[in-house]
Amino acid sequence: MIEPIVTVVRDGDIAVIRVDSPPVNTINAAVRAGLLDAVGTLAARADVKAAVLACAGGTFFSGADIGEFAGPPKEEEYRRLFNEIENLPFPVVAAMHGTVMGGGLEIALACHYRVAAPKTRFALPEVTLGIIPGAGGTQRMPRLIGVAHTLEMVVSGKPVDTRTGLEYGFIDHICDGDVSAAATAFARRLVADGNGPRRTRDMRVDPASATGEIVARFTVEADEQYPNRRAAHTAIQAVAAAARLPFDEGLEYETALVNGAKATTESKALVHMFFAERETRKVSDIPADAKPRAIGRAAIVGAGTMGGGIAICFANAGMPVTLLDASREGLDRGLAAIDKTYESMVARGRLTAQAKRERMALITGALDYAAIAEADVIIEAVFENLALKREIFGKLDAVAKPGAVLATNTSTLDIDAIAAAVRRPADVVGLHFFSPANVMPLLEVVRTKDTSPEVIRTALELARPLRKTPVLARVCYGFIGNRMMEGYGREAQRMVLEGATPRQVDAALEKWGMAMGILAVFDMAGIEVGVNVHKSNADKYPPDPAYYQADFALYEAGRLGQKNGRGYYRYEGRKRLDDPEAIGILRARAAHLNVEQGVHSEEEIVERCVYPLINEGFRILEEGVAMRAGDIDVVWTSGYGFPRYRGGPMFHATAMGLETLLAGIMKYRERFGPMHWEPAPLLVRLVREGRTLADWEKARVSGRAE
Ligand SMILES: NC(=O)c1ccc[n+]([C@@H]2O[C@H](COP(=O)([O-])OP(=O)(O)OC[C@H]3O[C@@H](n4cnc5c(N)ncnc54)[C@H](O)[C@@H]3O)[C@@H](O)[C@H]2O)c1
Repeated sequence: MIEPIVTVVRDGDIAVIRVDSPPVNTINAAVRAGLLDAVGTLAARADVKAAVLACAGGTFFSGADIGEFAGPPKEEEYRRLFNEIENLPFPVVAAMHGTVMGGGLEIALACHYRVAAPKTRFALPEVTLGIIPGAGGTQRMPRLIGVAHTLEMVVSGKPVDTRTGLEYGFIDHICDGDVSAAATAFARRLVADGNGPRRTRDMRVDPASATGEIVARFTVEADEQYPNRRAAHTAIQAVAAAARLPFDEGLEYETALVNGAKATTESKALVHMFFAERETRKVSDIPADAKPRAIGRAAIVGAGTMGGGIAICFANAGMPVTLLDASREGLDRGLAAIDKTYESMVARGRLTAQAKRERMALITGALDYAAIAEADVIIEAVFENLALKREIFGKLDAVAKPGAVLATNTSTLDIDAIAAAVRRPADVVGLHFFSPANVMPLLEVVRTKDTSPEVIRTALELARPLRKTPVLARVCYGFIGNRMMEGYGREAQRMVLEGATPRQVDAALEKWGMAMGILAVFDMAGIEVGVNVHKSNADKYPPDPAYYQADFALYEAGRLGQKNGRGYYRYEGRKRLDDPEAIGILRARAAHLNVEQGVHSEEEIVERCVYPLINEGFRILEEGVAMRAGDIDVVWTSGYGFPRYRGGPMFHATAMGLETLLAGIMKYRERFGPMHWEPAPLLVRLVREGRTLADWEKARVSGRAE
C-alpha cells in the first residue's frame, strides 16, 4: 500500500497533521492538496482542541516547489491553503526541525505558534532566486518580528538559527527531544490554559520597526549587495507595505509583486542556474548502471599551488591523502603552504586548532611512489609539461593498484596523449581544479576517448565530498572554461593596446556583473602564467601580431602581477592602483605594433569581451565538448565570476536574443575582420532557422539534430 503524504493522527483532543514527502518535504502540488484536505476535515471537527503541523524525515517543509516557477503562478493556491490553516478555530502549532526555508517558513508563520528543535535553521532566501517571499511571508513576518528584522532576513537571504528566531520573536519555544512530541505537549498546555488561536494576520506591525530611515538603510544595502538586480528592492517594497496595508490587501500587493519578479530575466536566470547546477551529473551516453568506484584514500603528485590546494580539499572531506613531490624541498614547501592556509583559517576563526590538527594529520608527505600504491584516486599536478606528465603516468601505471583512478589536473594539455602513456587508459580522466583549489567550487571533469563510464561516474561523485560542482567536458584545448576565456582575454588585452586603461576595461566588466575585471584576474593569477601558456601553445593561435601582447609587454618589463606588486596595476597589499608606468608600457607596445588608438564606451568593452566567449560556447556545444548549454553556464558562473543573475553565457545569449548577438558579432567582424570574429556555425544556423538553443538541445537529445 502506498503511504499517504499527509496523515492526521489523534493524540487525545490534539490532531497531529504529519507530512511525509521525501526527500525534503517540498510543498509541491500533492502536499498542498493533502494539507488542504486535512485542514478542511479538521475545521469541521468539534472534538479537536488544537493541531500540530509536523513533518517526517530530516526536515520540516524545506520550501516551495521551485520546479513550478516556470508554470502558471501558484500564489493563489498557497494563499488559500495558508489562510485556511490560519483560520482554523483552534490553536495550530508548527513543529519545526531541519532547514526551514522560503515557503516552509511561510507556512509556519500561518500557524498560530511555533516550536523548534535546537539546530533548526530558518531562511527567506527568495531574493537569491530573483523573487520575493510570495506566500504571505512579506506580510506575516513583519507582524511577528517587525519590518527591520524581516528585512534583515529577506535582504540577506541568509539563514538564522533558533536562538535568533526566538529573540526576533517568530519562535515561541525551543524544545529538546522529538519536536513533534514537544509541539503536542505545547499545544496541550495551550488548551489547558484556555488559549485559542493567535492569528498572525490580526497582529499589528510595530511602527518603530518600519521607519523611513530603516527602509532607506536596507535600500542602500540592497544596492550594494545586489547591483544590477531588482528582487531585493521589490522585497523591501512588499515588506514595508505590511506596516501600511490591511492584511488582505497586503497579500494582494505581495502577489502582484512576486508575479512581476518571476517574470524578470533576473529570476529566470537564477532559477535556470539553480537547476543547471543540479543537473551537471546527468550523463546521457553512459549506462545508467555504471557504478562509481569507492574512494577512501587519495594521492596527489606535485606539492605545488594546485597539489596543496587539492590535498586540502581531501583533508577537509575527512579523507586521508598522500602528497608526493620530486624533492624534499618541494614537498616541505608544499606542506608548509598547507599549514599556512589552515593557520590563517584558525586565525580568522574559521577553524578550531583541534580541527586543523585533525586535517593536517590526514595529509602525509612522500617522496617515493611506493607510498601511493594503495590510493583509490591519484591526481597528478606537476608542471604543465606533456613529456613530464607522460613520464609520471608511466610511473603511476607501474605502482597504482588495479582500479585506481588516474587523474591529471592539466589546464591545456591533451589528456588523450597523457592516457596513451599507461596500459589502462580507461582509468584516466582529467580533474581540472581551479585556483585556489580549496576555495573555488568548480571542477571540470574531462573524459578522454577511452575514459570508462565507471571512472566518469566516480569522478562526478567524488566532487560531492570535495564540495565541488562537477561539469563534464571532452578533451580539447582549454576544455570548456579556458577555451572560452581565450577570446575574452584577447579583446580585453587588445583594448588596453588601443588606448583604454586597465581600470576602464575592468570597471566596465565589473559594473556589468563580472566578479572581477579580467585584467585584475590576470594580475592575480600571475602575468607569467598566461605568457607561458601562450608561448608554449603559439602554434594553436591565429597569426595576429597583437595577440595577447599586453601580457607579453608587461612580462618583459618584469611585471608579474600581484606577486611582485606590479602588473596591469600597481598594488599596495591587495589594493589596485592605476599605474602610469604600466600604461606607458602598453602605449609603447601599441605604437610598436601600430595598433590604431580609439575611445571605448562601456558598452563596447562589455560587448567585445562577452560576445567572443559566448560565441565559443556555441562551438563547444555543437562539438559536444560540453553536454549542455546549462553546463557551460555552470562553468562560467562557478569558475569565472560570470554573474549568476545573468544566468551564465549561454542563458544570456538567449536572454539578449540570438539575433542581437549575431548582429553584434558581425558588427565587430566588419570592423576587425574575420580572424577573431567569425560567428559560430551553430549560432548562424539557429538565427537563420529562427530556432532557440533550447529547441536545438531537445532535438539533439532525441537524436534529431542535423
Ligand atoms: N595554478 C593554476 O592556476 C592552475 C589551475 C588549474 C590547473 N593548473 C595545472 O596544475 C598543474 C600544477 O600547477 P601549479 O600551479 O600547482 O604548479 P606549481 O609549479 O606550483 O607546482 C608544481 C609542483 O610539481 C612538483 N613537481 C615537478 N616535477 C615533479 C615530478 N617529477 N614529480 C613530482 N612532483 C614534481 C614541483 O616540485 C612543484 O611542487 C599544472 O598542470 C597546471 O597547468 C594550474
